[in-house]
Amino acid sequence: MELKAASLGKDNNYDSTAWFYEKVAHFFSGGQILACKKSQVPHFKKDEKVLFAGSGGGEDALLAVNKESYVTIVELSGKMIGQAVKKFKGHQFDSHLKIYHENIFDHQLKGTYDVVVANFFLNVFKEIDMSKALAHLVSLLKPGGKLIIGDFSPPSGGVINKFVQKTHFRLASLFFNLLTNNPIHPIYQYQDYFKENGLTLIEKNFFTPLGLISDAYCSLIAVKD
Ligand SMILES: C[S@@+](CC[C@H](N)C(=O)[O-])C[C@H]1O[C@@H](n2cnc3c(N)ncnc32)[C@H](O)[C@@H]1O
Repeated sequence: MELKAASLGKDNNYDSTAWFYEKVAHFFSGGQILACKKSQVPHFKKDEKVLFAGSGGGEDALLAVNKESYVTIVELSGKMIGQAVKKFKGHQFDSHLKIYHENIFDHQLKGTYDVVVANFFLNVFKEIDMSKALAHLVSLLKPGGKLIIGDFSPPSGGVINKFVQKTHFRLASLFFNLLTNNPIHPIYQYQDYFKENGLTLIEKNFFTPLGLISDAYCSLIAVKD
């Protein structure tokens, strides 16, 4: 495991949530956020380079290290990195892991990665910055590389389901707005940004918490031209 503290001192407000973030996400989603991340595992291949942007406590990065991918984590919160480090200490493939304590916009290894993963990450930005972050993530991919986005799914189904989906998202949004100062915004339709970024959607999976909120989360897999 290699830790590059490139931007120490630039920690954001997720520090305060680091010790409970994954547990609360698991509880709030009835295990479906983890199911969403696990659905992405077939795209992690031995010896391929996989970047996790805003990786938090790294539960999904661990899934890729288990597949013997070469994994890079870029994360702004030192406390989140601390949570990730605990998971990887003593792991048989821990030499496959590089951790950058920095802002994703400072990560400039263009055209490097086979896969870039942004799980529940792009929604930390207001829309104008989200579209810049998405374009930046695409620039880090090799041609033919895959961008994977797991996140809240845009409202779908009947009126009641759409209402429940939006309420579920607003609750999470408000909670993190209070704790981390995340901007309040509608659920993003990431697919709307794919064409302009040279991405083609190849796979889409949906996840339904507690059998109640149909398609609350989705995992999008897109390939760079
Ligand atoms: C909502 S959490 C998601 C964490 C993780 N991907 C997951 O699904 O469990 C967003 C994470 O992005 C990190 N983050 C926010 N802005 C960032 C930036 N500009 N560069 C790198 N990480 C950032 C936060 O510190 C936080 O850990």
